[in-house]
Amino acid sequence: MAISDLRARMHRRLPNFLTEYIEGGAEEELTIRENREIFSRILFRPNALINAAGVDASTQLFGQTLRLPVVVAPTGSNGLYWHEGDQCLARASAAFGIPFTQSTVSNARLEDIAALPGVRHWMQLYVFRPRDFMEELVARAEAAGSEALVVTVDAAAFGNREWDRRNYSRDMEPTFTNKLDVLRRPHWMANVLTRGLPTFANVADKVPPAARNYRRTASWTREQMDLAFDWSDIAMLRRIWPRHLIIKGLVTADDAARAADVGADGVVLSNHGGRQLDGMVSGLSTLPEARRRVGDRFTILVDGGFRRGTDIVKALALGADAVMVGRAALYGLAAGGEAGVTRALVILEQEVLRTMALLGRLTVADLGPDCLSGRGDPLNELTASPFMRENAGDGELAA
Ligand code: FNR
Repeated sequence: MAISDLRARMHRRLPNFLTEYIEGGAEEELTIRENREIFSRILFRPNALINAAGVDASTQLFGQTLRLPVVVAPTGSNGLYWHEGDQCLARASAAFGIPFTQSTVSNARLEDIAALPGVRHWMQLYVFRPRDFMEELVARAEAAGSEALVVTVDAAAFGNREWDRRNYSRDMEPTFTNKLDVLRRPHWMANVLTRGLPTFANVADKVPPAARNYRRTASWTREQMDLAFDWSDIAMLRRIWPRHLIIKGLVTADDAARAADVGADGVVLSNHGGRQLDGMVSGLSTLPEARRRVGDRFTILVDGGFRRGTDIVKALALGADAVMVGRAALYGLAAGGEAGVTRALVILEQEVLRTMALLGRLTVADLGPDCLSGRGDPLNELTASPFMRENAGDGELAA
């Protein structure tokens, strides 16, 4: 089984308007396509005849062991795909031995998820105009014991997701066609609809009564995003947040360096899964240069389009400490709840282990640009990076 099989199961199970919410991106979806296509332009150069009997995909992140260099990305509305979807994702991540990032617009209170046994809780923060609300969320995450605060910085202006919008009428109800489609999804109706639609549990008490329907709350939340959010706010968050501070949603090496300068502990090079600025580059393309700029000790995660173990290994070889997976975990969730998420993680792990064995690289630390080769234009961007030239083994990449 592959992640694509879980995806196919999700397409059968979920109502159309939810599938499209998960799958969709901004405008022409150029970035969504680029997030997948970039992997086909980065190829492996394996070493043969290496004894791979002890191959090990575990790694260290912020001083703790991860069974696989993967963190579950923050995604909103998980409770619409499976009853208590946030709990399913968090439990599966905990049992597997990786952190779970909970979205500000998740359907469970952050305290309830952070308190689940064994959960390594990362809390994602959207920055809203009422700053006291943001500070309140930060204080709650600290009191709940969250390990990391993941501040998303690419969504102050909300992406133009036309595909998603077309599924709703003016009063924010799914269109008639979409309501009819729900009737074709008995499993989803039994699992989610009949148990009552979830709420945005971390923001619910701030929402004005007129906006208290699911879709209206979602658009109210978007209106609260603060366009004036900038680096000075990150400096402020650094002052009030005592644990790991991670900035998610930047891609340039300059921004990664600036994040390090303001005292962040790490970044997620991300284009928000192609849901925000259409036509922007994949974080993977800027990863080598970002790594060179910030050095080895600063944590870099990358996300966008990771569906295969080979994708993950390529990112690690290009200098990432770990990757975040968004849709890959959601396909598992929508296909089969907690067991489906576990399935997705096990698939990725088996594929990573197989890839490392075939590459002749036994540990994550053995992965470097010297096991990669490239084809096509974007690789110029990769190979143009001094990091790649310096680390390119026999120099093939620099050619
Ligand atoms: C997201 N993403 C996201 N990011 C964030 O910081 N806060 C959020 O609430 C959400 N919500 C969300 C919902 C859905 C349905 C998706 C697909 C994505 C972006 C997410 O964290 C991550 O950056 C991307 O999903 C990574 O790309 P892939 O793995 O989905 O291709």
